Amino acid sequence: MDMELIVAEYVKKELENNNNGHGLEHAKRVVQNTKLILKEVECKEYICIIAAYVHDLIDRKVAKDVNKAKVELELFLKHKLKLSQQDTIHVLDVCDSISYSKGLKLRSVEAKVVQDADRLDALGAVGIARTIAYGTSVNRPTYIKGDKSDDTAIGHFHSKLYKLKDLMNFEISREIASEREVIMREFERCYINECN
Ligand code: ADP
Ligand code: NI
Repeated sequence: MDMELIVAEYVKKELENNNNGHGLEHAKRVVQNTKLILKEVECKEYICIIAAYVHDLIDRKVAKDVNKAKVELELFLKHKLKLSQQDTIHVLDVCDSISYSKGLKLRSVEAKVVQDADRLDALGAVGIARTIAYGTSVNRPTYIKGDKSDDTAIGHFHSKLYKLKDLMNFEISREIASEREVIMREFERCYINECN
């Protein structure tokens, strides 16, 4: 069985019951985005694709116990995928460093690719849906006139999501982000129109 199939199966099992916007469908879209970026960027593709699948398994929003999740992921990468020690560390480093909230300096091209791929999934139609779903899950309103903070879902567009385009690591990601931002700005305009 090839590597990608093994990872896909593993992540499916681990994320099956996660519906908070970091579930299996998110992981699959991040893989798709990664493959788009890889058409333009040269680096270790297998590291990017594996990391794209598993990146949220060691995130505190997904894992109850992050340290335990890291140990489990490391064992999976070494023993099931048969990655070398160096590649295992590399994949774990990509997963650890790409989060927006952590704001860490990235140590490899592969981390930059997966960071852009993950951020692209925060934008566009999917980004709108994920943001409203998240806002609803923490009991926040979707829209309050004038709000540009994390207190509302549409406020979150301004406090974070519209900033992502300029934070992209590669030109290709910036182009896709631009297109996806247009959709969000149009959605915001229509939403406000219908409310006021
Ligand atoms: P990262 O993992 O890069 O730190 P987050 O997990 O904080 O990013 O955000 C992932 C997604 O969760 C965002 O793209 C957004 O859709 C949603 N989200 C996070 N914070 C908020 C918020 N305050 N309001 C609405 N949605 C949010
Ligand atoms: Ni993610």
